[in-house]
Amino acid sequence: MYAQRTIMDLKTKYLGLELKNPFVVGSCPLSNRLESVKRLEDAGASAIVMHSLFEEQIIHEASIEGFTDHRYGTLLAKDQELYPKAEEFPTNSEEYLGQIQKIKESTDLPVIASLNGISEGIWIEYSRQIEQAGADALELNLYVLPTDNDDSSHYIEKRMVEIVDVVRNSVSIPLSVKLSQQFTSLPNFAQRLEYAGANGIVLFNQLFQADIDLARRKLIPRLYLTEPRDILQRLRWVSILFGRYKMDLALSGGVHSGQDAFKALLCGAQVVQCVSAILKHGAKGLKQMIADFGGLVEQEGVENLEAIRGSMAGVLQPNPEAVERAHYLRILQGWAPDPTVWQ
Ligand SMILES: Cc1cc2nc3c(=O)[nH]c(=O)nc-3n(C[C@H](O)[C@H](O)[C@H](O)COP(=O)(O)O)c2cc1C
Repeated sequence: MYAQRTIMDLKTKYLGLELKNPFVVGSCPLSNRLESVKRLEDAGASAIVMHSLFEEQIIHEASIEGFTDHRYGTLLAKDQELYPKAEEFPTNSEEYLGQIQKIKESTDLPVIASLNGISEGIWIEYSRQIEQAGADALELNLYVLPTDNDDSSHYIEKRMVEIVDVVRNSVSIPLSVKLSQQFTSLPNFAQRLEYAGANGIVLFNQLFQADIDLARRKLIPRLYLTEPRDILQRLRWVSILFGRYKMDLALSGGVHSGQDAFKALLCGAQVVQCVSAILKHGAKGLKQMIADFGGLVEQEGVENLEAIRGSMAGVLQPNPEAVERAHYLRILQGWAPDPTVWQ
């Protein structure tokens, strides 16, 4: 059973929402079932990000012809057999909007919807519908995989900033942007997202790579849940970006314990988003993480999370690049092969 602890003030703010603690359920299929959402609320989750609504999902319903309306149209139309069929998606767009309403009606959880579009029209139309359905905020999942020689990083980032700008001008609910781990200059890009109207950034998405089935010479999509070590890159970037923007920082990826969430807080995160740990250990795993996190905060003897948020980010100052480089050198140069193997 869980250790009984004094109820600490674990409140935090994220995207203008007052949350009772920093544990947000990240985007995953658990939001598709009301029963699971209620269990997560009972376990102490402070908000939920919904599974993403994808443009392909919306277009499939309308008609495959819709693909030709946008830049990737021909490509997608040509490769349509690669995509899941409309009926293979767990929800259609109408059900998705309905699920926002159901979660709002049946729980007290703030609901952050998630949208992944390609064409401008879909971003505008569906961000509006999501707002009308009652979502408290919207997370823009900007994942694309650039493979065209002619697409410079400048062009791709500009497109992403334009999407934020377009959505910002279409809805008034808070917006966060969920980013992939691969940006050449994340501080600069994040700044441009803020100028375009983002209220928060989520560091980072977990991208899934296909494996190869050698016998059948086929690609096999693989989904691995994260491991605790996946948090390290997130901690680094949250620390580097802490204190630079008005935007809130959410850490997503590799949070598997109360200790991990506590590290995220010390590095400067307003919230953590958990998926793999919850999928693995269920709602009781979430409850345990929150209890352990509360225990660590209690040991600090602080009144609230603000007192310690970002306190570890300071070790990178005044020159984060020098600190990172020094660590890099120390690790590589100081590493010695195992003498029992390399004697
Ligand atoms: C089964 C599954 C489905 C997911 N679906 C989405 C999704 O629809 N949209 C999204 O932005 N992220 C999605 N993610 C990524 C998670 O939200 C999260 O960013 C990632 O799993 C890293 O966090 P974790 O270490 O807590 O798992 C999904 C992850 C899993 C495991």
